[in-house]
Amino acid sequence: MSVAASPERKCPIIALASTKGGVGKTTLAYVLATEMTRRLASKGTPGMPGAGRVTCIDADPNRTLAQVLRLTDDRLIVCVESDSDRLLTDLREAQLESDLVIIDLEGTANQAMLYAAGKSDLVLVPAQPSRFDVVEAVKTIGVVRKAADLVGREIAHRVVLSRTPVLRQRVSDHSRSQFVRAGLPLLPVELVQRAAFQSMTYTGKPPWRQDGGGPAAANVTSLTDAVLSIIGLHSPTGLHSARLVAANEAHETARPRAIAARPDVRPVT
Ligand SMILES: Nc1ncnc2c1ncn2[C@@H]1O[C@H](COP(=O)(O)OP(=O)(O)O)[C@@H](O)[C@H]1O
Ligand SMILES: [Mg+2]
Repeated sequence: MSVAASPERKCPIIALASTKGGVGKTTLAYVLATEMTRRLASKGTPGMPGAGRVTCIDADPNRTLAQVLRLTDDRLIVCVESDSDRLLTDLREAQLESDLVIIDLEGTANQAMLYAAGKSDLVLVPAQPSRFDVVEAVKTIGVVRKAADLVGREIAHRVVLSRTPVLRQRVSDHSRSQFVRAGLPLLPVELVQRAAFQSMTYTGKPPWRQDGGGPAAANVTSLTDAVLSIIGLHSPTGLHSARLVAANEAHETARPRAIAARPDVRPVT
């Protein structure tokens, strides 16, 4: 039986992976987790297995995600500090009581990366627009393919361009085409370089809670939508989809026009 069809499977798992540090894994893990709980909090549904909770598994010994989550103190986010020895047990427990599990990994190809990929519904590989990052993303996706071979199923994966300039530049256009040429599937939404994504690491305030954080928050909204649609949470048959779609729609209507219109998020061509 495939992992995806296992009766024990309780909620989707997303892993942030790269064979290199500093590319934006923890940033992406943090904004996805805080955006998900913002949506779940606005539309909580009693009786769901996870009671609107997101579990973040910090499998990086530097514990960067755990530190910033401690500052944020979001009661809907549970953070578990883990390592390769405990990862599978931690994941099993997290799945029983969460709506979504997000794993943040160390920037190196290790056993934890293989385990995390093997259990994930989606592996996101952040990469900056540079040739070095194309090479690292190829290596990372090589590990995801090994994990897929090991568990006997396809594992969805996407490169997420991160820290891209707000103004489209020729170098990043070129870089995008390099990722495509290397056969790496790209998420259609990028995480743009924004001060709000840096200040949140000091304040523990995600962009939507920051003054002037609107453009970064709009970026996170589109990115989260793109991620959720890959794991089927926008489809009628998706796990917990009704609640998430409803929360999403409420958010879209509530979003001020000026923010919704910001051209922060560009489709990758
Ligand atoms: N979109 C972004 N805008 C601005 N700064 C960013 C962005 N993404 C990441 N950073 C910064 O880049 C550095 C590395 O990001 P981080 O998420 O810690 O990478 P990783 O977890 O892959 O090592 C951090 O200082 C972080 O604040
Ligand atoms: Mg990190």
